[in-house]
Amino acid sequence: MRSTHPLLIGALTLAGCAGPSSVLDPAGRGAERIAHLFWWMTGGALVIWLLVAGIALYATYVSAGGGSIKAARRLVVVGGAVVPAVLLTALLAWGLALIPPLLAPPPPGSLTIVVTGEQWWWRVRYLAPDGATVELANELHLPVGQPVELRLDSPDVIHSLWIPALAGKVDMIPGRTTRLTLEPTRAGVFDGICAEYCGASHAFMTFPVVVSEPEEFRRWLARQTQAASPATDPAAKLGGEAFLASGCGACHAVRGTEAKGVVGPDLTHVGSRRTIGAGRLPNELDALHRWLSRTGELKPGATMPAFGMLPEQELRSLAAYLKGLQ
Ligand code: CUA
Repeated sequence: MRSTHPLLIGALTLAGCAGPSSVLDPAGRGAERIAHLFWWMTGGALVIWLLVAGIALYATYVSAGGGSIKAARRLVVVGGAVVPAVLLTALLAWGLALIPPLLAPPPPGSLTIVVTGEQWWWRVRYLAPDGATVELANELHLPVGQPVELRLDSPDVIHSLWIPALAGKVDMIPGRTTRLTLEPTRAGVFDGICAEYCGASHAFMTFPVVVSEPEEFRRWLARQTQAASPATDPAAKLGGEAFLASGCGACHAVRGTEAKGVVGPDLTHVGSRRTIGAGRLPNELDALHRWLSRTGELKPGATMPAFGMLPEQELRSLAAYLKGLQ
């Protein structure tokens, strides 16, 4: 068997440092500070390692009869104790000083988003400064260059919200509200994940974070606050009827219809989202069909029952209805 060259492994590892999920490719104020700290910590560790490795080499040289014992002792004290202690203390002090700015609230009047960790999806509520609230799910949209406050909670188990490219992670703890300030510095689509083991579908609890220009963000939010427009396509129309007849509205809300359930994700504009099932599948007709008929297989432990017993035609029209909720 051919062994993989260490340089190739190194290159592949470094290639993993860029991209929408990387802490080392920051796109937000918090992540910038964290990446900074990471590089200084790595640099400090490298200096200490070089000193200690140097001392070890020098020790072998001295015991072989060269050099003076006095110089060797001085090297051990300075290189092995003083320099590492000073460096590590400085890095610790700097790291601790970075925490308060990471946790600082945004200026008053900033947009607030309440994110609740559910099993296993994300309930997202945008609170506009004028008091209006709109509930969405499984996708976060943010304006570039504006600080936004996330208020985080959970009704049952502990989750942890982490958007590596934007900021550090913060736990979502039942009975408490934790906070996180996000300030994206460039537009793009980034990955959000749950960073705390929370049960069977912990690994299937992700969400896209769409950062856009403030004007585009405002348009998106205005669209999301509107009720669903009635289906016009015949298949989608049938799907809308099947949605209500099958009892989907007991758990899901589609604003502007009789579906007013609050247990599951709000589906008013589900067709406009990038993914379904909290990042589980791409938002496409085939995937919606699969999701409806094999929910539990795709997301073990999900509360939503699979509707595989429905006639094929009905599943298709349901998928068309959901995709049409733009
Ligand atoms: Cu939610 Cu892990």
